[in-house]
Amino acid sequence: MQIRENVPISELTTMRIGGLARYVCEISSKDDIIKAWNFAKERKLPIWFMGGGANTIGKDAGFDGVILLNKITGIEILTETDDGLQLKAMGGEEWDDVVEFTCKKGFSGIEAMSKIPGTAGAAPVQNIGAYGQDIARALVSVEVFDTKTEEFRSIPRSKLRMDYRYTTFNHGEDAGRYFIVSITLHLNKNYLEPPFYNSLQNYILEHGETDYSPMNIRRMVSEIRAEKLPDPTEIASSGSFFKNIYLDQVGADEAEEKGIPVWRSNDDSGKINSGWLIEQAGLKGEELHGMRVSDKAALVLINEKTKNYADLAAARSEIIDTVRRKFGYTLEQEPVEIPEK
Ligand code: EPU
Repeated sequence: MQIRENVPISELTTMRIGGLARYVCEISSKDDIIKAWNFAKERKLPIWFMGGGANTIGKDAGFDGVILLNKITGIEILTETDDGLQLKAMGGEEWDDVVEFTCKKGFSGIEAMSKIPGTAGAAPVQNIGAYGQDIARALVSVEVFDTKTEEFRSIPRSKLRMDYRYTTFNHGEDAGRYFIVSITLHLNKNYLEPPFYNSLQNYILEHGETDYSPMNIRRMVSEIRAEKLPDPTEIASSGSFFKNIYLDQVGADEAEEKGIPVWRSNDDSGKINSGWLIEQAGLKGEELHGMRVSDKAALVLINEKTKNYADLAAARSEIIDTVRRKFGYTLEQEPVEIPEK
């Protein structure tokens, strides 16, 4: 196991902000997890688990602890029949490689989540989702190292309280408790059908697409994303910086009375696009404290030229305050932040 000292968090995260992490351990096996865990315990240092750093923000003071970087790779087919595929992806595997693998085999379930940056192990933490799919629906279980009991075990999806960008891994008393060793997914041959998620549906109509096979959905989603979302290898960002807003029926009615577009669910609850609120508040494309609100997708905050968390925090406050003054809703940040200690 490689241990590095005083590593800039800015180099480990796609937002490219954050001071020094005291130690970073590269984890390539279950053995390494135990070694890193003991290393931190001996020094009485806190730990932080990380994959590709695509949804993680570091603070200016860095992290006085040990970051465990998940580099455990591999994809293993557990069972395969004509209409079902169960596979295990190790936590450090690139998420998009897992998606490509399943699409190539012709199985559906995660194809609309193509090109989401980050690792397979990070995917269930915030319940990633895009273009009408989320990982919750394909997830069977997660194999973890439990820091409370110091044991490896498997947790079934039903125990993970998965909701929109919300799970046991990122909310409540068990947040930060588990290192994700691997995830088990179940895919099937029930291809996505129209009507599709708004922007995918528009693309399909515009291009006269009729092939809804996983590989073709993957190609279309990849094109839509490339148009709208910055590639984190070229442009520093954490994807969507704010969450969309989910409302109960009363809240959804109120929003509509104010003239805000609401996407209704079958039970009449609704979703407001925070990107719409930011755009209507006049912030789309604006530069704030060295950060830029993307001119293609207002939910995305780009780190154009700042090295400081303080600047990011100032830009964030300005966006939140402007939207609150105009519409009365308080935007919530999507990426997680590494505590300083
Ligand atoms: N919209 C605007 N202005 C904008 C952006 C969006 O008015 O600048 C409105 C439009 O009405 C548009 C709607 O918002 O039709 C939806 O926009 P889009 O399809 O771009 O999706 P999003 O709600 O901005 C969410 C996810 C993305 C995911 C896309 C596609 C969150 C926080 N974000 O964004 O996920 O790729 O849907 O499914 O839920 C991420 O989480 O990092 C992420 C990129």
